Amino acid sequence: MAADKKVLLAMFMKMQEDVLKFIPENERPDVTDLVEFGGQQFLNPKVTECKGYRFPPPFSAETVQWQYDNWTPTDQDVLVASYPKTGTTWTTQIVKSVIYKDDEKMMDLMKVITANTSYLESGTPKNYEIMLKLPWKRKIWGTHLPAPLINMERLKKNGCKIIYVMRNPKDQVVSWFNMNKNIPFNKTEEMAKHFPAEWNAFFETLVNGKQPVHSKEGEWYPDHILSYYPYRNDDNVLFLMYEEMKKDPAKEIKKIADFLGVKRSDEEIDELVEATSFQSMKKEASKPMSQMSFFRKGKVADWKNQFTVAQSELMDEKFNEKLSGIDIKFIYE
Ligand code: PPS
Repeated sequence: MAADKKVLLAMFMKMQEDVLKFIPENERPDVTDLVEFGGQQFLNPKVTECKGYRFPPPFSAETVQWQYDNWTPTDQDVLVASYPKTGTTWTTQIVKSVIYKDDEKMMDLMKVITANTSYLESGTPKNYEIMLKLPWKRKIWGTHLPAPLINMERLKKNGCKIIYVMRNPKDQVVSWFNMNKNIPFNKTEEMAKHFPAEWNAFFETLVNGKQPVHSKEGEWYPDHILSYYPYRNDDNVLFLMYEEMKKDPAKEIKKIADFLGVKRSDEEIDELVEATSFQSMKKEASKPMSQMSFFRKGKVADWKNQFTVAQSELMDEKFNEKLSGIDIKFIYE
C-alpha cells in the first residue's frame, strides 16, 4: 500500500476507535467488518450500484439497500440530507450545536462522529449498531442519498426530522472539483475516468450526468433536488439554502432550532453563529477533514474564478431545463 494510503487508513481506524470509546467496553460491537471495508476502499476503490444508482467510494450500495429495508429512526432523530458540497458539514455542525451546546461530554462525542459513521450510506450496517449504542438522546445522521433511496414514508410516519440543504450549483461544482483533487480514492485509473483531474473534462462529465454521485446514468444535482422537492412542505422536512445561511446565519440557525423544537435565546443564537462560522469550524477541523477540502473557502460566487462564460451559460440552460417546473431560485452572488 502506498504511504499516503497507509496514513489515511490509519486515520480511518483511529476515527473508529475515537467513536467506540463512547460505548462501554463490554458493549462495544466487533468492528472487524468495518475495518476490512475501510481497507478495501483504500486498496481497491470502486463504484457500486443499487437500483441503478451509482455510488463512489467510500459509500456502499449494499449498505444503502440495508438502510432502506431496516433503518427505523424515531421522532428524536435528525437527518441532514444534501447533495455533496452544498453545506452538509456546516448544517450538521449547527444541528449538533443547537441540540448539545450545553453538554460538554456530548460535544466531545460530536467532534468524533464523522460521515464514516453517521452517513446512511457509509461503511457497513455495523455503523447503525454503533449509532444506536452511543449515549445520545437525539441522533444526528447525514446522507447524500436521493429521496427514492430513503424510506421517506417510514421517516414521516415516525417523525424523523429531515433538513435538506441546497447551494447554487456553480459553487457546488467548484467545491466538488476541488475536493475531488484531494480524495485519495480518485488517484486510480478506474476512478479518474469518472472524476477527471482537469477542470474542463470534469465539468463535461458532470453536466452530462456521467459522474457516479449517488445518481443514475444521466442524472446529477438537479435530479437530486427534484427528488426531495415533493416533500418540501411536509411537517418533518425543512429546506435551507447555503447562501441564505451565509447572508443571515442567526435567522437560519433560529429556523433550525425552532424546527427541532429546541428553545435558544437570542444570545445563544449569537454564540451558535460564532461557533459554527467558517473560521471557527476551519480552526477546529481534524487533519483528514482539512486535507480533503471540507473547509476550503466557504464563500458565495467563487465559481466566477473557475467557470468560462460558456460553461456558466450551459449550466443555466441545463438547470433551467430540468427544474423549469419548480419554485427554487438559486443565489449566485
Ligand atoms: S461534503 O463533502 O459533501 O460533506 O461537503 P459539504 O460540507 O456539503 O460542503 C463543503 C463546502 O461547505 C463549505 N463550508 C462552509 N461554508 C460556510 N460556513 C461554514 N461554517 C462552512 N463549513 C464548510 C466548505 O468550505 C465547502 O465549500 P467550498 O466552496 O469548497 O469552500
